[in-house]
Amino acid sequence: MFTSDILKGRVALITGGAGGIGFEIATAYARLGANVMVASRNQERMDGAVAALAKEGLAIKAVKTDVRNYDEVKNAVDTTVEQYGKLDILINNAAGNFYCPTADLSPNGWRTVIDIDLNGTFYGCHAAYQHLKKSEHGGCIISIATMLGLSGWPGAAHAGAAKAGIISLSRALAVEWGDDQIRVNTISPGPIGDTVGVQRLYQETGREELERKKTALGRFGKKTDIANAAVYLASDLGQYITGENMVVDGGRWLKYVAA
Ligand code: HXC
Repeated sequence: MFTSDILKGRVALITGGAGGIGFEIATAYARLGANVMVASRNQERMDGAVAALAKEGLAIKAVKTDVRNYDEVKNAVDTTVEQYGKLDILINNAAGNFYCPTADLSPNGWRTVIDIDLNGTFYGCHAAYQHLKKSEHGGCIISIATMLGLSGWPGAAHAGAAKAGIISLSRALAVEWGDDQIRVNTISPGPIGDTVGVQRLYQETGREELERKKTALGRFGKKTDIANAAVYLASDLGQYITGENMVVDGGRWLKYVAA
């Protein structure tokens, strides 16, 4: 049941875990007893994340990683296992995105986002598999997607295509790795306030109010809304859930369909 040590004894690796939603998940996991490794490209941000949680008496670790590079992702997984002895949970959270009409998007702009979001998620799953299958809790992979991947994402077609790919990859792996007791799920956040994504795609483009109204609840979500979903899915409470795309979007996609 819900207890304050619900993730005790679990080891989690979180890509993009030094900021935004990734750091919120890292914080929740550490508070609930998990041993946490965050992976990020940015050393300064990682140092800040480690220091911020140290103030709360929570010791997390960090490993410099660009998820576009398979060897670096494998190094992040291996470092986690070296430092903590095993790996139970992988969170594929690292993402890149920017607003750009597709006609103006360069092939390298397309490739960059596909590389970070989709290829980075595949690299994480692939590198972690051998360790996750040994987890005594059953391995757990959670990747961050969005329902805009399924509807199509005008102005961010690169990110939408990558997120659709992540959902498809996760469903395939849920079946392929089910016999290994590895659960593979995605979380599809709606607009989450105070994130770089909302800032870049909605605030900087003057769409903030419109996007707020597009949700059934009429408001942006909080980073903790996504962290709570990630806690539930990784804990024993979510033990029979695999291949699921948990939508945490304030009813945005339903309102979109109903409009
Ligand atoms: C058009 C752009 C562009 C822009 C970059 N490019 N930004 N094109 N409009 N605004 C093009 C560049 O011109 C280049 O192509 C190619 O993309 C690579 O750009 P670099 O700057 O060299 O890449 P890099 O330094 O590796 O940075 C990667 C990045 C960057 C994705 C472009 O923005 C980044 O690091 N982002 C991480 C943080 C982030 O994006 N967070 C948001 C994720 S949130 P050419 O052809 O010129 O070489 C999210 C959910 C959002 O995904 C949800 C909202 C509700």
